[in-house]
Order: sequence, then C-alpha cells, then structure tokens
Amino acid sequence: MQSKLMIIRCLTLFFNWVLCQEISNLPFPNSFLFGAASSAYQIEGAWNESGKGPSRWDYLVHNTPVVNDGSTGDVAADSYHRYKDDIAALKELGVSFYRFSINWPRILPTGFINEINPAGVEYYNNLIDGLLAEGIEPWVTIYHWEIPLPLHYLGDWNNDKIVQYFTDYANLLFQLFGDRVKTWLTINEPFSFCVLFVNVEVLSAGQEGVPTGTTEYQCAHNVLRAHASVYRLYQFKYKAIQKGRVSIVISSEFSLPASDSAEDIAAAERKRKFDLGWYLHPLVYGDYPQTMIDNIGNYSVVQGFPVSRLPKFTILEKLAIKGAYDFIAINHYTSALTTPGTSSEEPVPSFNNDDGVITYQNPSWEGSDFLKIFPEGFRELLVYIKKNYRNPEIAITEQGFADYPNIINDTARINYYQLYLTQALKAIYEDGVRLTAYTAWSLLDSFEWNNGYLVTLGLYDVDFESENKTRTPKESAKYYKNVIATKCLIDTCV
Ligand SMILES: *[C@@H]1O[C@H](CO)[C@@H](O)[C@H](O)[C@H]1NC(C)=O
Ligand SMILES: *[C@@H]1O[C@H](CO)[C@@H](O)[C@H](O)[C@H]1NC(C)=O
Ligand SMILES: *[C@@H]1O[C@H](CO)[C@@H](O)[C@H](O)[C@H]1NC(C)=O
Ligand SMILES: *[C@@H]1O[C@H](CO)[C@@H](O)[C@H](O)[C@H]1NC(C)=O
Repeated sequence: MQSKLMIIRCLTLFFNWVLCQEISNLPFPNSFLFGAASSAYQIEGAWNESGKGPSRWDYLVHNTPVVNDGSTGDVAADSYHRYKDDIAALKELGVSFYRFSINWPRILPTGFINEINPAGVEYYNNLIDGLLAEGIEPWVTIYHWEIPLPLHYLGDWNNDKIVQYFTDYANLLFQLFGDRVKTWLTINEPFSFCVLFVNVEVLSAGQEGVPTGTTEYQCAHNVLRAHASVYRLYQFKYKAIQKGRVSIVISSEFSLPASDSAEDIAAAERKRKFDLGWYLHPLVYGDYPQTMIDNIGNYSVVQGFPVSRLPKFTILEKLAIKGAYDFIAINHYTSALTTPGTSSEEPVPSFNNDDGVITYQNPSWEGSDFLKIFPEGFRELLVYIKKNYRNPEIAITEQGFADYPNIINDTARINYYQLYLTQALKAIYEDGVRLTAYTAWSLLDSFEWNNGYLVTLGLYDVDFESENKTRTPKESAKYYKNVIATKCLIDTCV
C-alpha cells in the first residue's frame, strides 16, 4: 500500500523523480545562481575623497550618537582603494554575481544631476570591468541608504520631489553602466529606512518632533513612486538595447502565529500585509493591502485626522506601479511570532501602533545574541509569496548570520547557511517556488550601521586594525565555496 502510494506520488507530481529522494541529497538546479553582497557605505570608506559629497550617514556618524560603538564608515574595509581584494575574494568563492551598491554622492556630490564626479564614475567603471574580467556579473543596487546630505535637508524620502531626483540619478547610471550591468535593484529595504531607522534616530539621537505615523507611509509611498518611475524609464528607454532587468529589494521577516488561536493567526496575516504586503501588494496588484487601508484609515479618523495617514496613489501611479518588477528580490534573515496588541512603548500614532501586532522571538530558537533563527520560516515565506503574489520568480538578495567579530571558525554561520539553504531546496523541489538566485550577506565584515563593528556577517573577516584591511576567509567562506562548486549542501549529494 505504502509503495503504491509512493509510486502514485512520484508519478503525479511534476518533479516526480525528485520527490522520491531526500531533498538535502539533491543539487540546486543547474541554472541556479549564487552570489554575495555588500553596500557602498558599509565597505567603501574614502568618505570625503576624490570629489565625493557627504551623505546622510556621513553626517549621522560624525554628529550623533546613533552608532553603538561610536565608530564610522570613514575607512571601513577601504574597498574604494582595495576593490581588487574584494574581486579576488569573490573569485575565490566562485560566485556568479556580486551585489554591490553605488554611493549616490560619489557620483553626484550634491545629489542633483547638474554636477557629475568623474572620479566616482571611474571607480565604478573599474569595479564593474574588474568583475566582468573574472566572469562575475555585477548586480547593482542604485540606493542602499547613501542619500546625499542636501537631499536629506530637502526632506529625504518624505519630499515628493525625491521621485524626480532619484529618476535623474538612475537615468545617469543606466547611461554610464547599463551596457555592462544587466541586473538593477532600485532601492534596498525601504522598511529599514522608512521605519526602523526613524526609530533608531529618534531613540538614540534624541531627535524630537519626528512625525511617526506619517513619515513611515510618506517615505514608503515615495519609494514606490520612485521605483515605478525608474522601472518605467528603463522599460521604455533602455530595455530594448541593454536587455537588463529591474526590481526593488524588499526585506521581510516571516510572521508566524504565536499559537493556534484565530486571533494569533489573524495577527500573523495582518503583520505579513503590513510588512511584505506594504510593498508587494502595490507591485503585484496596484494598491496597498486592504487591511492597511482599513486599519490606518480607521485609526486616523479616531485620532482626529481629516484623511487617512496612509497616502493614496493616483490612477496613473497605480498603473505605473502595478507590474513594475522583472522578478521579486527578497532579503530574509529570520522569523517572528505574532499576537494581537500594541506595545505601550510605541508612540501613537506610529506604524508600529497601526499594525496592532506584538512580535517576539521564541527564546528557545537557536542563534546568536544578534540573530535568533527559525529556518522553516524561510520556506514558509517563499511559499507565501508564491501563493499570494502570483508565483513570481524570486531572488534572495540577502541572507546571512550575525555573530561577533574575529571568529574565523564560524561554525554557527555554516550551520545557518546549511539549514536555510535546505529550506530553499524544499521550496524549489517540494513547493515549486521559482527561486532562481541566492545572495549571501555579506562578502566582508562591514560597518553594520547603528551596530558599528560590534556585529559581523561576513564570509571574509576584515582586520579593521591593519593598514591594508586584510581579508581572511572564514570557514563559512570555504563552506559556501563548496556549495557553489558542487551546487550541493552535503558530500553525498547526487
Ligand atoms: C577626510 O576625513 C578625514 C577623517 O576621516 C580627515 O582626517 C581628512 O582631513 C578629511 N579630508 C578632507 C580632504 O577633508
Ligand atoms: C474600518 O472601516 C471600514 C469602513 O471604512 C470598515 O469596513 C472596517 O471593518 C473597519 N475595520 C476595522 C479593523 O475596524
Ligand atoms: C571548527 O570548530 C569545530 C567545532 O568546534 C571543529 O570541529 C572544527 O575542527 C574546527 N575547524 C577548524 C578548521 O578549526
Ligand atoms: C597586507 O596584506 C597581505 C595579505 O593580502 C599580508 O600578507 C600583509 O602582511 C599585509 N601587510 C600589512 C602591512 O598589513
């Protein structure tokens, strides 16, 4: 009986032969791409060299207590001068692609299109050409939080004009580099700079009067409008000749109900809509999720606002945003448990109050002081995207493990990649998710924003004290190199 069932199961499913084997024994598909990632401010250094203008982060690290250890990205891994070491590390790993970001004020020192910095253009030309010479595809993030300081003073992502400024900048990058760059990621993790960093800045830099409950939505609204503008620009002006593809990078934890209760299940679903759906729903269906429209609208009325704090798209904007992606790009590190409620620490109004959800992690989950992990949540996230957002092609543009500096035998990171990549295999072979690429975050130990250098995620250790910022492969780099070379997670892989 059992074998008969097995045969039926093997015959009826598309990947029939695959399902008759242990998933972790199977190789990733031949066409599957592995890469590694970085971002400009986190590794480049040279913050005030060769014509570069200041960014918001240059200002923050020098003038506020936002960074835990008081460190800066002034030098970081010094990749501006040592990018050839980075290319050598990527070559050693055997990656198919390198995801890096362009530092906006290194190209446009004031943020505006009227003044172009030739040294900045030369740097990225050298990096791109150096990668291509080693057979490594450049995947370029246009904005990874390096907003030029003048544009910050004009209101940052809250200013509607950012759509034009960002489109001018992206247009220049397509002109300059689009002959060689075929994968463009417009904006990295809007949730982080529209929500998380607003909170970090308010709490640690003591900035008063930040309009929470409004700024988050205005920021994300302009992100979506700017992304759509750039996507359509590429589609109409460049795609036919350059033949590249464009997407936006969305970060998401996966929200799991804290219990089987209907309330917790509803809270998890609501949180997914407020987190992932905030961006994916407009991209796939042309507008925000109904639960966001309802909740924020109702709270706004109660709080005495004449209209919802969640902005509305015009009909033309909806048309531009809907379908503005060639694949879905996701950053995912961990999951969280959800239950209904609001934390008394959250300001009212605020995004975190509007979602009506309390999230926490199970203390029993394994991990480090910085990252508790739940690998099954990764597979659930992929399946959720498949089911709710029309089975898109998905690329993981960041995933990695956070631990302390100077751990070269980083067994916990190897364990993380092994567990998470196993879930990726299950999603591909058992769930039919169209996952086509995976990016390890990060290539190097880096300046980790408000955590400075106290946390590391690199496959390569960087000796930040040394004159030449020596890069040393950790054990996880060797593990990842073997995964890339064999497309297998274990030695017995068939
Ligand atoms: C650049 O910044 C460094 C500190 O990181 C400072 O010592 C140096 O004088 C600055 N250079 C210029 C040209 O302003
Ligand atoms: C919010 O208001 C709408 C009507 O505008 C109503 O249909 C909906 O049930 C309300 N939602 C909540 C969560 O109160
Ligand atoms: C790394 O640590 C593990 C566990 O302690 C040990 O089994 C392994 O041999 C170590 N590897 C190296 C290269 O030191
Ligand atoms: C510079 O880096 C190389 C490895 O790339 C190392 O062998 C050398 O000792 C380093 N020199 C200094 C002065 O740190």
